[in-house]
Amino acid sequence: MKYNKLGNTDLEVSVICLGTMTYGEQNSEADAHEQLNYAVEQGVNFIDTAELYAVPAKAENNGLTEKYIGTWLKDRKDRDKLIVATKIAGPSPNLKFIRDPLNFSKKQIEIAIEGSLKRLQTDYVDLYQLHWPERNTNFFGKRGYFHLDANKWEDNVLEVLESIQTIVKSGKVRHFGLSNETAWGLMHFLKLSDQHKLPRCVSVQNPYNLLNRTYEIGMAEPSIREQAGLLAYSPLAFGMLSGKYHRGPKPEKGRLTLYPYFGRDNGENSNKATQAYLDIADKYELSLAQMSLAFINRQPFVTSNIIGATTIDQLKENINSINLDLSEEILKEIEEVHNQIPNPAP
Ligand SMILES: NC(=O)c1ccc[n+]([C@@H]2O[C@H](COP(=O)([O-])OP(=O)(O)OC[C@H]3O[C@@H](n4cnc5c(N)ncnc54)[C@H](OP(=O)(O)O)[C@@H]3O)[C@@H](O)[C@H]2O)c1
Repeated sequence: MKYNKLGNTDLEVSVICLGTMTYGEQNSEADAHEQLNYAVEQGVNFIDTAELYAVPAKAENNGLTEKYIGTWLKDRKDRDKLIVATKIAGPSPNLKFIRDPLNFSKKQIEIAIEGSLKRLQTDYVDLYQLHWPERNTNFFGKRGYFHLDANKWEDNVLEVLESIQTIVKSGKVRHFGLSNETAWGLMHFLKLSDQHKLPRCVSVQNPYNLLNRTYEIGMAEPSIREQAGLLAYSPLAFGMLSGKYHRGPKPEKGRLTLYPYFGRDNGENSNKATQAYLDIADKYELSLAQMSLAFINRQPFVTSNIIGATTIDQLKENINSINLDLSEEILKEIEEVHNQIPNPAP
């Protein structure tokens, strides 16, 4: 395994982070424990979860992911060696079963972190992330920015940072990060943290994969300069970039078969681009999944690559991407496809 510093902290996190959002839906508690054990044996020390999970989010499975991690975590003697990240959900009219109101008020932040700690059976989380912004902006697949809410969002970022400071001081949280954020959001949080000597955002968890490299446009530079590196999520574009939807019949159990409405990644251009990446992988006798993950692992603005898997074989393949170095020739061919079909699945 390889490791990177998490922002300006003294924590070294594995370049491969274990994503967990299938635990409680596609994966059972036993699967979850098997995955966690295997990943840790391979040197993964970084685990990402959220109060929202399992996914797709519904009342029946809500909180199960953290619970399954908790039943694993409680018996471990190496809690201090593990970097556990979770998230507080942002506003959404359809998720009121998580908490109501879903916002980042001081009270809701305190309720949310207590709930996560209880389910995770731990006294603290290493990284607490705001899952998505409270304000209306372009995330979750929105390509453009439409300024609709000039009068609806009151800038509460200073108050949010003060609430985070409270939970940091209480020892419940070590560091905080953003997720699904824009360049303005990141810089605004950083500015207020610096001005008021409040906790500083150490990471940004946004989507990043061969079908969605939008992070490179406005976010990569601040990530590096401000020491708030990317925790790349959906690195295989929900499984598309394994190539399995492009070889033979559609896999019955694949996420995009089971939940077709998760389709931000399966439009016509995504299919064309995926086929082109698959051709490169085939030409060099690589697994497309590993080629796609290795591309992410090597980026200088990436702190960690949050992989997801529903089987141990997938997990093995994905973790092993850490051992794959892509040649200049392969990188050039990847770049050619990207230039022809840039960001088909934002
Ligand atoms: N902050 C956020 O808003 C946000 C959003 C999404 C995810 N995340 C985090 O990022 C983690 C990873 O995201 P993701 O699950 O969307 O990642 P992903 O890599 O895009 O998709 C993972 C899925 O692809 C399939 N797959 C993975 N490896 C494969 C392989 N080698 N061969 C064939 N199929 C393979 C599996 O699904 P099937 O077997 O069902 O096909 C697996 O569950 C999540 O667990 C979560 O921690 C965060």
